[in-house]
Amino acid sequence: MTASAADPSALPVSSARAAMERLNAEAGKYHIWLRTQANAPAQRPWFRETGIDVAGRVAEGRVGANQMKAAPHHWRWHQIGPYLDRIAEIARTAAETGEASPIEFADRQQFLLVNPGLGGRLQVASTIRCAVSVYNPGDVAPVHMHTPNASRTILSENGGYTTIEGERCRAARGDLILTPHGTWHDHGNDGATPVVWADILDFPLLEFLDCNWIDEDFPGTREGNARAQKPTLADGYSERLYGAGGIVPNFVSHRRGIGHDTTPVFHYRGDAIRAALDALRGEAGDPYEAIQVRFVNPATGASVFPTLDYAAQLLRPGEATRPKRETANQFYIVLAGEGSTEIGGERFDWRENDLFVVPNFRWRRHINRGPRDAVLYSVSDLPLLQKIGQYRAQGRDADGGVVQLVS
Ligand SMILES: [Fe+2]
Repeated sequence: MTASAADPSALPVSSARAAMERLNAEAGKYHIWLRTQANAPAQRPWFRETGIDVAGRVAEGRVGANQMKAAPHHWRWHQIGPYLDRIAEIARTAAETGEASPIEFADRQQFLLVNPGLGGRLQVASTIRCAVSVYNPGDVAPVHMHTPNASRTILSENGGYTTIEGERCRAARGDLILTPHGTWHDHGNDGATPVVWADILDFPLLEFLDCNWIDEDFPGTREGNARAQKPTLADGYSERLYGAGGIVPNFVSHRRGIGHDTTPVFHYRGDAIRAALDALRGEAGDPYEAIQVRFVNPATGASVFPTLDYAAQLLRPGEATRPKRETANQFYIVLAGEGSTEIGGERFDWRENDLFVVPNFRWRRHINRGPRDAVLYSVSDLPLLQKIGQYRAQGRDADGGVVQLVS
């Protein structure tokens, strides 16, 4: 094709672009960026897109290089779980030969989940980190406190212990243990077999805000080779004070530690969570979430952390939820059963202990495909999105039409 005045490629626009790029390269040393392209957001107006596979787009060039989007992803336990056994074996061998074990030179014995859409960052979504840890008998993570909010979901039958602000929480499979920001806590395994749990934190958010610190200078009384805090409360404190729904003690402040807007309840037992779900199995539930319960601050009804919301849901055999999408990220751990979650039209089949992430804006629906109950624990940054006025959600009705759940 011959270039002519009518051919856009022949217009001086291209030379203006080239000139801007040249100028930009020259000016880079002064830490400025000459605007050579649309400085566009990564996201399309998702709520206008009706396709089930809406995924958003990333801008090109210099703009896009700094925009990353979490991908839907599924970590299969049968693939990743064996690495914990191998870490534990390396640690055992190191102990036998007098070498430093991984918990000493790496602080923790764990792997972190890496979302393939986030360029190798140690995070499953923009605000959420997840690690899976193994503690051999005798291992201790010394007492400390930090700005990120954290939790552990116990995956082994026995889960060692975590002591938080003087309350020792002895854990078992399915337990949820919360270490809110600004609470002194330490972990250990005083049992006879390795213990495994999933740690979930809002670490990437605090890192982004440059607000991440850790204090290891515990001022209280220590025990266990001086690395752990000595419990000061009788076991079961959380449950004793706050375990009766709607009844709260009137003689404590409900603030534990130096953090703000965090829950005073540190320990939920797996069997109590299952019992709560089971007691509700005869209810209709929610078309998008089935039988779901939230963990809340009993003194305020707010989320347990200012940034993260925790929930557990029961999918009865054969139950399938309707598609839903929202501006919050959702991260899941499969505690029981087998089924699948469709994320943006892609199907992920999960089994016990699998973990998967539904990034914000993606349509998702859950299906219990097994003969037994399926139980999913989830963590989302919904409270954070609500606080900044950005939480929205849509669902699809029985005919596939889009309905506004939170507009
Ligand atoms: Fe910690």
